[in-house]
Amino acid sequence: MVKLLLAGTGLIGERHLNHILEHPDLTLAGIIDPVVENRTTPHAPGFATLDDVDVAADGIILATPTDTHAPLTMAALERGLHVLVEKPVAASLAEADEMIAASKRTGKKILVGHHRRHHPLVSKTVEILSSGQIGRPLVASLLWCMKKPDDYFDVDWRKGVDGGPVKQNLIHDVDTLRAFFGEVTSVTGAGSNVMRNAPRHESGGVVLTFDSGAIVTIAFSDATPTPWGFEAGTGESPHIPKTAQTSMQIACSNGGLEFPTLNVWSGAAHWNEKPEMQPTDVDQAVPLIKQLEHYAQVIQGKAEPVVDAASARETLAVILEIERATAPPSLRL
Ligand SMILES: NC(=O)c1ccc[n+]([C@@H]2O[C@H](COP(=O)([O-])OP(=O)(O)OC[C@H]3O[C@@H](n4cnc5c(N)ncnc54)[C@H](O)[C@@H]3O)[C@@H](O)[C@H]2O)c1
Repeated sequence: MVKLLLAGTGLIGERHLNHILEHPDLTLAGIIDPVVENRTTPHAPGFATLDDVDVAADGIILATPTDTHAPLTMAALERGLHVLVEKPVAASLAEADEMIAASKRTGKKILVGHHRRHHPLVSKTVEILSSGQIGRPLVASLLWCMKKPDDYFDVDWRKGVDGGPVKQNLIHDVDTLRAFFGEVTSVTGAGSNVMRNAPRHESGGVVLTFDSGAIVTIAFSDATPTPWGFEAGTGESPHIPKTAQTSMQIACSNGGLEFPTLNVWSGAAHWNEKPEMQPTDVDQAVPLIKQLEHYAQVIQGKAEPVVDAASARETLAVILEIERATAPPSLRL
């Protein structure tokens, strides 16, 4: 059994909590949360802070506000714990660098919660693109267009830039795009916040270039209730109803791929021929559970983190560039 502490039982922490309790190979060692009712459970002792913890554990999950990721990670590593920290890895690149150095110094691992890497539809897309069956990825177009309810922004830390769709949602898309197309080499974009006029991002358009030569456009908004976005398309989140719609089209030199529906289009040599569509069968799995199982393997020394702090730092660097490029005119970054 792998013994895990959980810090933070909010939106994402509660999902981690349930998956730990249901998993036969994982034990909940304790919950850390400053809010008494958030840490009170019949399953394990509760603590107000990490300093108060007096039970043994192998690792900790940090599902706490972003500005706590670096200090809590450093404290946990120093206590001899491996860390699964939610995305973004840290609030700044300098903090991410400190975390990377602390992991090296202590020999304890950091896994970052870019859980989509564990989604079977993501793994299958990587497999299709790298097999070359539809040639080389040239361009892709991604939509993330959801409407968040107003009370989502009632939590203090979500009122500003940290609660916007770039750091909260596109960060997952950027991590996935890096898995598909390589490293990002340039970022351009524009943004607006015409609906809520809040001091954070709302809608925007981005062009990313990749070292593979691929070019990807992203249109995003958290103020529009469409069926298009990763969570809606895959049904990955219990909070977002599944629409099973395509949210990205990937155009390759010999055909195209729709994601996450994974319809593969091929067989046309040029525009005078009609491409044929072939669906792809993929087994179902819950990526947060697969991520926990991977974390247990990392703790046991059987695997290296699939997204370590250095990789997540690259994604954060792109996200900070996107935040700058798509800042609404009223928001100077
Ligand atoms: N992987 C994902 O899909 C996903 C989804 C949502 C949020 N997140 C990330 O997870 C983090 C938390 O987001 P959320 O939406 O769950 O937040 P939330 O506000 O819903 O919950 C945060 C919880 O952390 C607790 N907390 C605050 N400070 C703490 C501390 N010092 N020690 C222990 N607990 C503390 C709060 O009391 C609360 O229970 C953020 O960094 C966010 O970016 C990831």
